[in-house]
Amino acid sequence: MAFDAGKPDLDCFPFEQWSRILAKSWRRPAIDQLYEGENGGYAALKFEVSAYLRSARGLECSPDQVILTSSTHEALEVLSQVLLDEGEEVWIEDPVYHSALQAFIRASVIPVSIRVDDEGFSLEQAIEKSPHARLVFITPSRQYPLGQTMSLSRRLALIEWARANNAWLIEDDYDSEYRYRGQPLQPLAARDGFERTVYLGSFSKVMFPALRLSYIIAPKALVEPLLAAMQSSGKQASILAQPALAAFMASGDFARHIRRTRRLYAKRYSVLVAALEKYGGDLFELQHYDSGMHIVAHFKPVLTSKISDIEAAKRLRKHHLITAALSQFFRTKPKPQGLVLGFAAVPEKAIDVNVKRLTDLLRQ
Ligand SMILES: Cc1ncc(COP(=O)(O)O)c(C=O)c1O
Repeated sequence: MAFDAGKPDLDCFPFEQWSRILAKSWRRPAIDQLYEGENGGYAALKFEVSAYLRSARGLECSPDQVILTSSTHEALEVLSQVLLDEGEEVWIEDPVYHSALQAFIRASVIPVSIRVDDEGFSLEQAIEKSPHARLVFITPSRQYPLGQTMSLSRRLALIEWARANNAWLIEDDYDSEYRYRGQPLQPLAARDGFERTVYLGSFSKVMFPALRLSYIIAPKALVEPLLAAMQSSGKQASILAQPALAAFMASGDFARHIRRTRRLYAKRYSVLVAALEKYGGDLFELQHYDSGMHIVAHFKPVLTSKISDIEAAKRLRKHHLITAALSQFFRTKPKPQGLVLGFAAVPEKAIDVNVKRLTDLLRQ
């Protein structure tokens, strides 16, 4: 449905290959992996994830650094438990992924919001606001939800700070597959060589969200403590899809699916930008970076004087247009007004007509 952010296109998902692989993987399962299950995930999947990250992201990591989780939320809860004591502070970006914020709160640590700027997260601002934090959660490749990348100087400063202070960086690299121009960016963890950086990835966008498989790539020193914490808290990703996903990746179907969706989303991205400029040039200031699965349309004064983004999203929802109010991603004031518009799951033909409907509804 237009313009639900975070939803991948599933009309083009290769269900035939997937179901064949899924059935085959369960015909003769490795019985030893069906009791407690492999610690940290199915061995073949850990191997495939590390091989994929090496080739797609230039990330040198070994299969034993891979820990499968059922969500990024779960990963963050376990990481908080291992890396911090209760009541300690963690720097998070403002705006932020809501589920990450919830994970830190559930883990009884204190998220301190640091407002991002054009270069992303600012260490200077963070130190000023809470000088004793030892953990930071960041989206350096594509700030969530605004989309800018963290500048090289900021990345280097963070790595230096973490090394000097025995602190940890958690890098959430949630949708780097979807860059439509230029080379993929080097992850922070690659630059750091996994000294102080924990890398998080997810299959939610490249496969589908209800698969519930995400992963941590941990520095070697953290693997055992993280596995122990997963075990003691009863957290474990389900085995059900893991052998099939490993085979799906090994067969090349996974890479093909990513290439196909990247082409599809690139087209939808430009159609959405063009439609917003055509129908809403006077209403919105667009923030977009030739990447991702959503773009941010900031309200211009003509719109902010009429309606809040929360009311706008409510009004649109009544007409079956799903958007997210930008202000709801922020914890500090002022809260910018705008809409987050997903395009990945919206067919090209539906984009233009629905942007027209959306702008008509907001003008009323
Ligand atoms: C910023 C961000 N991080 C991570 C994820 C992935 O989370 P999960 O693996 O729990 O689906 C998403 C998914 O929408 C996201 O938007």
